[in-house]
Amino acid sequence: MQAFTLYLPTKLVFGKDSVTGLKDAIAPYGKKVLLTYGGGSIKRIGLYDKVLEQLAGCEVFELSGIEPNPKIGSVRKGVEICKKEGIDFIVAVGGGSVIDATKNIAAGAFYDGDPWDLVLDSGKIGRTLPFFAVLTLAATGSEYDGAGVISNPETSEKLFLGAPNLFPVASFCDPSLTYSVPAWHTAAGAADIMSHTFEQYLVAEGNTVTDGLCEAVLRTVIENTPKAIANPEDYDARSELMLASSFGCCGLLSIGRTPSPWPCHGIEHEISAFHDITHGAGLAIITPHWMRYSLTEETAPRFAQYGVRVWGLDAKAPAMETALKAIEKTAEFFASIGIPAHLSEVGVTSEHFEAMADHVIAHWYPLTGAIRPIDKAGILKILTDSL
Ligand code: NZQ
Ligand code: ZN
Repeated sequence: MQAFTLYLPTKLVFGKDSVTGLKDAIAPYGKKVLLTYGGGSIKRIGLYDKVLEQLAGCEVFELSGIEPNPKIGSVRKGVEICKKEGIDFIVAVGGGSVIDATKNIAAGAFYDGDPWDLVLDSGKIGRTLPFFAVLTLAATGSEYDGAGVISNPETSEKLFLGAPNLFPVASFCDPSLTYSVPAWHTAAGAADIMSHTFEQYLVAEGNTVTDGLCEAVLRTVIENTPKAIANPEDYDARSELMLASSFGCCGLLSIGRTPSPWPCHGIEHEISAFHDITHGAGLAIITPHWMRYSLTEETAPRFAQYGVRVWGLDAKAPAMETALKAIEKTAEFFASIGIPAHLSEVGVTSEHFEAMADHVIAHWYPLTGAIRPIDKAGILKILTDSL
């Protein structure tokens, strides 16, 4: 097993009505709060009023309208409020986009310059405002990690920032808050959780403990996503997806394993930078093609292990045969939960493929460290095959 450090400073508060713990959690942090949220779903589900009840006695400032694939413009607005009003802490209510924007705002509040600088160079992140998350969508794991992904439409860039002090102080995860998540975002969120797991699981070397955790997360998502789509108010299914979300991106699944450059994420962030598509859908489309690209005689045993332990395929069959079946099962699953198979179906064209590939190489981890090394030609092949 490889050496590792795991640092998870967020208090995860899970369960029905867990948001009622917000009042006590924020008490030591001051009285001036910035409440951040998206396009209005929190009002439609009655959560906005519940959060305001928890903030009683605080002076509440608001930043609403944070977009999916959050834009730097929203971050700048939030930073301006924090600086002007002397905000003490932030409460983010929403999915990954709201939480990610909040992370950039929390860091920007103490930065003497444009918060986009912090996305370009996380090394510039210093002090941050404390912030809390109330999660409404199971997907990104932003509620339990120290990273955020921000888009800059002016430069067609979508880049991540990360720092140890970008973890929420506490995240409140009530699965019933996700009852209203539409089928499309339930499916895309599920694909995102699975992709986080694949990125960490399908590497050269694993270990028994985290192989088992990864396989459990994958089986959980495969079993519970169709249930949540068929019956959006299935509390148990929503719970399993929400916990899988928090486990998926916090680093737990990669401890002691070959470090992964997260190739599908590097490529997908470019697709959503140029075309503003739903992150999880982009991942679901490219993942089977990345898997096919990565399948070689050398890597086949790991894909076959995935097929046997997650899909129940025949352990005695030749590794390559099982690996191929496992990849087909993966593609079939994404289709079964309503995600199209081709990028062209979500409005992507090949126009920017060259630029995307160049951006991945310039800004992402070196994909030469992937289970099968990926160069620029490899990125272009995965993109073209996905089209
Ligand atoms: O804006 P509102 O009205 O709230 O609607 C949102 C949005 O339209 C809606 N929604 C959220 N909760 C809902 C709901 N609708 C009904 N009922 C609810 N309870 O869902 C839509 C999508 O929300 P969004 O926050 O964009 O989705 P998600 O959580 O998938 O976040 C995606 C963003 O996170 C980034 C992605 O790249 C993307 O920008 N990621 C962040 C990561 C991280 N911080 O570690 C890792 C991921 O790999 C990912 O890159
Ligand atoms: Zn993701």
